[in-house]
Amino acid sequence: MSSQAIGLFDSGVGGISIWQAVNTLMPYEHTIYLADNKNAPYGHKTKDEIIALSEKNTEFLLNKNVKLIIVACNTASTNAIPHLRQKYHVPFIRIQPAIKPASLQSQTKKIGLLATQSTLQSNMLQELKEIIPVNDVEIIGRYGQGLVEIVENNRMESRETYRLLQKYLNPMLEQGIDHLVLGCTHYPFLIPQMKQILGASVKIIEPSMAIAKQSKRVLEKLNILAPENQKAKHEFYANHSTAALKKLLKNIPEAFIKKLEF
Ligand code: DGL
Repeated sequence: MSSQAIGLFDSGVGGISIWQAVNTLMPYEHTIYLADNKNAPYGHKTKDEIIALSEKNTEFLLNKNVKLIIVACNTASTNAIPHLRQKYHVPFIRIQPAIKPASLQSQTKKIGLLATQSTLQSNMLQELKEIIPVNDVEIIGRYGQGLVEIVENNRMESRETYRLLQKYLNPMLEQGIDHLVLGCTHYPFLIPQMKQILGASVKIIEPSMAIAKQSKRVLEKLNILAPENQKAKHEFYANHSTAALKKLLKNIPEAFIKKLEF
C-alpha cells in the first residue's frame, strides 16, 4: 500500500480526460496533475524538444514524490517514453492511439485517426501500424491542426470548431470509416461536436478508461495502491493560465489549482 500520489502530465488540459477516468476508477488515489501550457501545443515540436519538456515535467512530478507517472499526452508518449523509462526509475504509463481495438472491430476495414503532427510522424505510430492484427485495414490519418488550441481556450462550441471538424472528418466519412481513433488527449472534449458530424455509424474510440485500468494493474502488481478508504486530494498545476483547468474541474470542489513558474 502507498499513499503517495499518482502523477500525470500533458501540454495542457487534454490529460484531464485521462485524469477523470483515473479518478472514477480509483477515487481513493491522491493525484498531482501538471499542465505545461506555457509550452503548448507540443504537437508540432521536434522530438528533441518534446523529450526535453517531458524530462522537465517528470522531474517536477518526482519532486512531488509521485509513485507512478501517467504521460497523459499522446505526443509526449509516442516521442519520449523510451527515453523517460531509461532515465528514471518511476513506473510510467504511456498513451498510444487505440488502433488495435479499432482494427479488430472495423467492418468497413477503414479507420480514421485524428492526432497531432508529431504523433502521426512518430516511430511508435509506425510500429503500431506494423502490428495491426488485421492487415487489410486502412488507416486514414489526419492532423487535427488547431484543435488543441480550441480546447485550451474553451471554444469547443464555436462555429469555427464545427467547421474545422467538418474539414477533418468529412473526407474520412467519404472514404467509409466506421471507427475514429482519437490520438490526442485533448480531443475527447470535442466528442459531442464530432458526433454531430459523424452520426451514429462511426464509433469514436478514446483510451482514457483503458489507461486508468492499466494504471491500476501496475499499482496492484507493485503493491502500491492506496487504501480504499483514503480521502483523496487532488492538486493541479499550470505554468501559464489556470482558466481552462478551472473550467473543466468546476465540479470537483476539492481540486486545488495553482499557477506556478516552472
Ligand atoms: N494532449 C496532447 C496529446 O495527446 C496534446 C498535444 C499538443 O500539445 O499538441 O498529444
